[in-house]
Amino acid sequence: MSFTSFSFPTPTLFGPGALSELSVRAASLGVRKPLVVTDPGLVNTAAFQALIKVLGATERDKQWFVFSGVHPNPLETDVREAAAAFNRYQCDSIIGFGGGSPLDVGKAARLLVKRPKLDFTKFYEEKDWAGLAPFVAIPTTAGTGSEVGRSSVVTLEATHRKAVLFHPELLARLVILDPELTVGLPPGLTAATGADALTHCIESYTCPVFHPMCDGIALEGIRLIIEVLPRAFRRGDDLDARGKMLVAAAMGAVAFQKDLGVVHSMAHPLSTLCGLHHGLANALCLVAGMKFCAARKPGIYRRVGLACGLDVVKSPEAEADGQTITFISNFLAGLGLNTRLAAHGVKPEHLESLVVQAVEDPCHKTNIVPVTTEDFRKLYLEVL
Ligand SMILES: [Fe+2]
Repeated sequence: MSFTSFSFPTPTLFGPGALSELSVRAASLGVRKPLVVTDPGLVNTAAFQALIKVLGATERDKQWFVFSGVHPNPLETDVREAAAAFNRYQCDSIIGFGGGSPLDVGKAARLLVKRPKLDFTKFYEEKDWAGLAPFVAIPTTAGTGSEVGRSSVVTLEATHRKAVLFHPELLARLVILDPELTVGLPPGLTAATGADALTHCIESYTCPVFHPMCDGIALEGIRLIIEVLPRAFRRGDDLDARGKMLVAAAMGAVAFQKDLGVVHSMAHPLSTLCGLHHGLANALCLVAGMKFCAARKPGIYRRVGLACGLDVVKSPEAEADGQTITFISNFLAGLGLNTRLAAHGVKPEHLESLVVQAVEDPCHKTNIVPVTTEDFRKLYLEVL
């Protein structure tokens, strides 16, 4: 079997069945006794069985171990327990297997392995990041792009707020993008995780940081997602669509090193306060966020529209934005992502807490236009 490999900057192995290369490739990174970090739901999937088959070995001479206690929005305790398992089994490396949460926990646990006495609430003061255990990332969803990210988002016990660990040393040494691992993802999760990737591309493209490289990647990510997400949604076993979605999700995460915007600031509190899936939260806020930005900065979505295949080259600015936003709105509706927040348990009494946390969230600080407290209140009411 032949696979495609590229580095940007993370060495990535891509293709249906690429998982089969794990043992050989990981061994060259010094992975002899890995700890697999995953979540409880994944342990019973065909994807996890495929991983076990590749890791091989009978129980008797097994040289790998599993920590499967990762929560959907990962907690500090998840990181502590993963690090404890690593030490207990005397592992030498970590394989993150799953969606964004197991990958984020796997990345961060290496810091606690190296510095067991670290005050985790003060990780941002950490200066000594070198020499973390090798980390291999194998995503089973196409959304967060955590596999190519240099950050890890963990909810701290002391504050009950999300903290972002950020350092280039957190990057994976190897990413395996194997579309066969995502064929079992149900349509609803396929749509929601794909919408997260789409939001990364749109928000990073419009973020006013100078980074033409990221802009190019974001626009191509949008083009890919528009082309293949509906196919992956309708036919889970469409390997071409699944593969392109995996790459597009990684592209979205590469692009958002520029940063994100108002939609992610709306989405984060919807997960922490109301338990919404991160991708779903983004999807339900995306159109309102785009209308808000376009009204204040006309013309920002023209190239997004072109990436979607719309003929808006010569359209007046407001018209180009309007057509693009209508297209995105219909696109999300076609994936069943056109419900209101109220349908997912968000109540009017949540409004003020949501607004407070959205204002505190750092993502909107790099939105193309400033977002005030009153703006957030109106935006939430629009989608409630
Ligand atoms: Fe996201």
